[in-house]
Amino acid sequence: MGWNPQDYAENAGFVPALGNAALMLLAPQPGEEILDLGCGDGALTARIAEAGAHVLGVDPSAPMLEAARKLGLRAEQADGQKLPYGSRFDAVFSNAALHWMPDQRAVAEGVFRALKPGGRYVGECGGHMNIAAIRTALRAVLGRHGFSPDSGGGQTYLTPEAFTAIHEAAGFADIEARLIPRPTPLPTGIRGWLKTFRAGFLDEAGVPEAARAIVIDEVEALLAPSLRDSAGHWTADYVRLRWTARKPR
Ligand code: BEZ
Repeated sequence: MGWNPQDYAENAGFVPALGNAALMLLAPQPGEEILDLGCGDGALTARIAEAGAHVLGVDPSAPMLEAARKLGLRAEQADGQKLPYGSRFDAVFSNAALHWMPDQRAVAEGVFRALKPGGRYVGECGGHMNIAAIRTALRAVLGRHGFSPDSGGGQTYLTPEAFTAIHEAAGFADIEARLIPRPTPLPTGIRGWLKTFRAGFLDEAGVPEAARAIVIDEVEALLAPSLRDSAGHWTADYVRLRWTARKPR
């Protein structure tokens, strides 16, 4: 999907801001070689660099990489499902990125290859039941208008059990994965969220420009009773999957 750093900062600045817990779990140390998988605009990559680690960010989005490089960060274009690195990182970190990668087995194998023996893998992404209300409302509205809600790639929201099985098969040890419900305030409401995170999805579902406003109005109306409070503030029903794992020595 096409990312726009300005739009992302406006409607989704909470993504890196709420990445703090995962970052604390990573606990980057001075001098460590760390890969930030799905670094986006580099907001969290910069925090890893501030800790004194040598961090490399990777992301498939050229505009987001450009934003990361403007912060003075090292950032390379790469598909997380085809990581090209061998035994060179003390740790791999990832925030809010894995759910965009359908081939989770390939991601796990690439991260495993990229780590030095004994290296750690720490991160967080959308987990099972993530944004269930939003997804259901979108499906209902798209279906009602004859568009296919399943035409796009969609996201992958694993259970801890599925995550553990995939990572065990890739060779990881000491895997701990859990789901954390995290109601997330949306500073620009559901409309801002849909603009940033669902434009590509609506393209893939074949929704023409002229029908977008109707779809968005109807999704907003369906969700308002459950996700908008009496003061008019919106909260999304995020569920995070947070994990730590280790490559055996
Ligand atoms: C997430 O971080 O869970 C997420 C972000 C954008 C779209 C869908 C999910």
